[in-house]
Amino acid sequence: TVPGDLAGRAVVITAGPTREPIDAVRFIANRSSGRMGFAIAAAAAAAGARVILVAGPTALATPPGVTRIDVETAVEMHAAALHHAADSDLFIAAAAVADYRVAAPADHKVRKADAPPALELVPNPDIVREVAAMADGPFTVGFAAETHDVIDHARDKLTAKDLDMIAANQVGAGLGFEVGENTLEVIWPTGRKTLGPMTKERLGEALLALIGERFHAAR
Ligand code: PMT
Repeated sequence: TVPGDLAGRAVVITAGPTREPIDAVRFIANRSSGRMGFAIAAAAAAAGARVILVAGPTALATPPGVTRIDVETAVEMHAAALHHAADSDLFIAAAAVADYRVAAPADHKVRKADAPPALELVPNPDIVREVAAMADGPFTVGFAAETHDVIDHARDKLTAKDLDMIAANQVGAGLGFEVGENTLEVIWPTGRKTLGPMTKERLGEALLALIGERFHAAR
C-alpha cells in the first residue's frame, strides 16, 4: 500500500512525547513512545518522500532515509516544526505535545519542603494549528487522542484547528500509547475511513496511502 505518488515531496512529521521541565532533574511528560510517528516517517521515506522527523525523547532508531531533529520541550518542537513546515508539502502531527508547561522551572533541584509545592502552568503553542493557518502552507494532518467520544472530539479538532485531515485513536489502558497495534478513524471534511487494527508499522503505510490520495484530490 506504499504510494509512489509522494516521491520527491517534502514531508514534516512530529512524533513522540514532549518533556516540560519542573526543575533541573524533573519533568512532566506522557506515555507516547514515538512508534506511530516513526512508522509514518519510515513509510514516507520508503515512498520516496523527503522526510524531516521532529522527535521528542524516544528510544527508537531513526528510520532509513529520514532526517531527524531531536527536541525535548513543546517550545523546541514548535520552533523546529514551524521552521521546516514553511517549505513542506505535507505536515503530519503524530506527537503527543504537552498542552501546558511549567511557568518558571527551577534551574536547581527543588528540595523537599514541609508543604507540597504548587506548579503554575502556562499554555504551550499549538503547533499543528499554527501550521494549518500558514498562508500557502502544507496539507496538514493532525491526530486526536481520545479516551471517549472519539469521533465527535476528533471532528471538533478537525474544525477548530482547520486541518485537512485528522487521525483519531482511542487511548487509555493498553490502547494507543506505547502498544504495538493501533486503530485509526481517519476523518476529512468530506469523508471518513477506519484503518486497523494492525501494527503501527502497517498502519503508517495505510495512513500514508490515504493521505497521498487526499493530498492529490485537494490540489
Ligand atoms: O507514540 P506512540 O506510543 O506510538 O502513540 C501514538 C499516539 C497515541 C501518541 C498517536 O497515535 C497520537 O494520537 N498522537 C497525538 C497525541 C495527542 O497529543 O493528541 P491531542 O488530541 O492532544 O492533540 C491533537 C493534535 O494537536 C495532535 O496532532 C497533536 O500533535 C497536536 N498538538 C497538540 C498540542 C500542541 N500544543 N501542539 C500540537 O501540535
